[in-house]
Amino acid sequence: MSKPGSFLADIKELRRRARHQLNEGAVTENYGGKVEDAIALLNHAVATEIVCVLRYKFHAICATGLSSEGVKEEFAQHATEEEEHLDLLSERINQLGGKPNLDPEGLLSRAATEFVEGENLVDMIKENLVAERIAIETYREMVRYFGDKDPTTRVILERILAQEEEHANDMHDLLVSHEGHPMLEK
Ligand SMILES: [Fe+2]
Ligand SMILES: [Fe+2]
Repeated sequence: MSKPGSFLADIKELRRRARHQLNEGAVTENYGGKVEDAIALLNHAVATEIVCVLRYKFHAICATGLSSEGVKEEFAQHATEEEEHLDLLSERINQLGGKPNLDPEGLLSRAATEFVEGENLVDMIKENLVAERIAIETYREMVRYFGDKDPTTRVILERILAQEEEHANDMHDLLVSHEGHPMLEK
């Protein structure tokens, strides 16, 4: 720990820097990582979330079968939550001085997950579970990467990660309750 005197001296320097680097926005001198790398990583997650929004929306509208109503609602709710993740990531990129990459061109190659329509309800549930498991692994890696370097981004990612784990759990529950009755889903 620094002595109180030197801490005060540090405060003077801190104030001086804050005044002279206004164009840097929220990215201050002690930002722990390379901000360009952080933005590039976050933009991969942005692409992943867009693909997840589109896949869940498609499933929410196109799912058929006797027991599809509750599942459709679940898909629609997940689509809304994936869109919230997209917003959180895009806002953070903006705070870091970058631009969220929302360009449809090349979207699938930037995303970690895939867009698969699925043949029937069980297929759809499986595809979403696969995508959620990929998202979980990706966000866990990112949380480790940001660690102490950028705690604000880490906290945002942890929040998203917790919700992806809930999503995976929801899809697993649906799979267990529907896979046993494949005749109902055709
Ligand atoms: Fe998400
Ligand atoms: Fe999710």
